[in-house]
Amino acid sequence: MSTAPKPEILAAFEAAKGFMPVDEGLALYAAAVEAGRLGLPLLEVGTYCGRSTILLADAARAAGVTAVTVDHHRGSEEQQPGWEYHDPETVDPELGLMDTLPAFRRTLHRAGLEEHVVALVGRSPQIAALWNTPVGLVFIDGGHTDEHARADYEGWAPWVAPDGLLVIHDVFPDPADEFTGQAPYRVYLRALESGAFTEVGVAGSMRVLRRTGAGHPVGSPAAR
Ligand SMILES: C[S@@+](CC[C@H](N)C(=O)[O-])C[C@H]1O[C@@H](n2cnc3c(N)ncnc32)[C@H](O)[C@@H]1O
Repeated sequence: MSTAPKPEILAAFEAAKGFMPVDEGLALYAAAVEAGRLGLPLLEVGTYCGRSTILLADAARAAGVTAVTVDHHRGSEEQQPGWEYHDPETVDPELGLMDTLPAFRRTLHRAGLEEHVVALVGRSPQIAALWNTPVGLVFIDGGHTDEHARADYEGWAPWVAPDGLLVIHDVFPDPADEFTGQAPYRVYLRALESGAFTEVGVAGSMRVLRRTGAGHPVGSPAAR
């Protein structure tokens, strides 16, 4: 199985709305292909308009598993009107609120990947609280506040199966490089310190960790 996406998948990724550069997309795709071998779902927190979902979906298709993607589709802090990453096309004209679900559905349909994806619309911690099955990969690319990044980590990292992968986006060790805060970096450090994960890959601000240890990702309740 190739760890590089076919040209048409890469073209769909590049055509989709979103901010992920190609080098990080290629690393995410390789991780998803590898994790797919576990025969378990691949889960993403932070769908936005489906740019990264295309890669998880294609890897899921190849492995015969399902990609699950979680988002409330109302946008992160930095994507709201007046902020640097705002795209006016993502605003629902009737409600005046961001709604990235229509763009996401168009992206996935155009890429021919709809049937390989289950999209869960809601808040990540609320969905995680209902979740009850191991996954081969968790990709954390949701909200960048400490509250959101911590909740994504605590809600989803425990579900990464042994040998499965935890991929964290927007990890900026140097505060001079970050653009939306260092919460993902703090979550990344916490994953390593837990003893449950070992770093196996880096691409730009993307970090790929494998579940290798007996440690509990979230620790004892007192440590949370
Ligand atoms: C950086 S974007 C995701 C980008 C996407 N992975 C891509 O590569 O194009 C972050 C997304 O997380 C979503 N989000 C932020 N906080 C969330 C939360 N607590 N629950 C669910 N979705 C959330 C936002 O709505 C936004 O669409």
